[in-house]
Amino acid sequence: MDREAVILESSRILDYILKDELTFEEKNRIVSDSVKNYAEFVNPAILTARKSVSSDYSFVEWEDEGAVFRDTHGVEFIDCLGGFGIYMLGHRNPKVVEVVQAQLNRYALHSQELVEPLRGYLSKLVEMITPGDLQFSFICNGGAEAVEMALKLARLASGKTCFISTVNAFHGKSMGAVSATGKGVYRKPYLPLIPGFQHVEYADAEAIEKAIRNLIAVGDSVAGVIVEPIQGEAGIIVPPPGYLPALREICDRYEVLLITDEIQTGMGRTGTLWAVEQVNVVPDILIMGKAFGGGVMPITGIVARKHLWQNMLENPWILGSPTFGGNPLSCSAAIAAIKYTVEWDIPKMAAEKGDYIMKRLHLYKEKYPKVLQAIRGRGLLIGMEFPSDEIGFNLAKDLFDQRVLVGGTLNNARVIRIEPPAVISYEQIDTVLRSLEKTLAKLSN
Ligand SMILES: Cc1ncc(COP(=O)(O)O)c(C=O)c1O
Repeated sequence: MDREAVILESSRILDYILKDELTFEEKNRIVSDSVKNYAEFVNPAILTARKSVSSDYSFVEWEDEGAVFRDTHGVEFIDCLGGFGIYMLGHRNPKVVEVVQAQLNRYALHSQELVEPLRGYLSKLVEMITPGDLQFSFICNGGAEAVEMALKLARLASGKTCFISTVNAFHGKSMGAVSATGKGVYRKPYLPLIPGFQHVEYADAEAIEKAIRNLIAVGDSVAGVIVEPIQGEAGIIVPPPGYLPALREICDRYEVLLITDEIQTGMGRTGTLWAVEQVNVVPDILIMGKAFGGGVMPITGIVARKHLWQNMLENPWILGSPTFGGNPLSCSAAIAAIKYTVEWDIPKMAAEKGDYIMKRLHLYKEKYPKVLQAIRGRGLLIGMEFPSDEIGFNLAKDLFDQRVLVGGTLNNARVIRIEPPAVISYEQIDTVLRSLEKTLAKLSN
């Protein structure tokens, strides 16, 4: 290690962070550094796969607020990707930032030994805001990690083995989570994965029952069914309203645990605080993430029915004991997020703004049927389907040129997701819709 060089390089970077105002040269330097660093130290493939963002990589994210972020030069983008669900409350919601800053000035991480007050308070609030008799929480850091905890808890509590998941489901990419994930492209390189996972078609309750019945018939036991209330990554697939209630009934009948992954649909995204509320279903384990940290801190978790905690009472560390899980800084953000979400009725905001966008998209679909083929979603979880990846990708790219960010990588753009923060203004929504129509018209020709 060249000690002098490390100190020099880190000082230069810290200077960028600590400074109020960058020079023109520094702003450009950050962009060129970023591209070079990704090419040499992160992964050059990201630079080509994410081309919808900008073909020449002349922008990097440098600051944000509300429904927008800006590059180093202050060029402003409306964020309709919303971190795939993170930014329900907008970027750096001042109410969340205020709380996190106050907590940062007191203590950031915890001793690991003493009882952590904010984790306790957060778990109590989670009990208060989740449906039915969901009671005990396990707080962690990432979505896949929370999925791991849900799967482990299901096996631990039931003493059973197998899981039923769905084709095209996305539950994350750690070993257990990717076993549940239903996409060959993410699973194949890691086979054999955790044994005992079966995938059936989404939105088909009968298929789930059949899988459970057959597994039991051949001597296996089924610990849980894991399902997204709306499949996000798969292209915003909304199941019929009877699907989750049917799964609840089947799981009860076969004494199988129902695990709902609300990492993307939760915290108001689909128009209710949790998507399962729309069909009056109480899962045995509910998984939270993304917007749970108020768009400021990474924090995820699971909440489960009390009786599932039985084995955890014998050994509280048996499920997991993540060093950073439930740390005070993240918990302070989640507590602030819960208050803001409930106080400002963020789910209602998502429902109303979602309806407003949907109405317009249906008009566009009629006007540009060759380009915009289908629209799906609930609240502010909206998917637009195009005839090909190429068209979706060109749409995302053209919108980016008009300073609107939507989701769509080079080879995954047939369904473009619109997931803006709930705090996006109607004026900003109109700007997005105007840009979208311009792009659709262009692509139609
Ligand atoms: C439904 C769902 N589950 C799990 C995950 C994985 O979360 P993370 O990327 O935080 O590991 C995601 C992420 O997109 C998701 O949408």
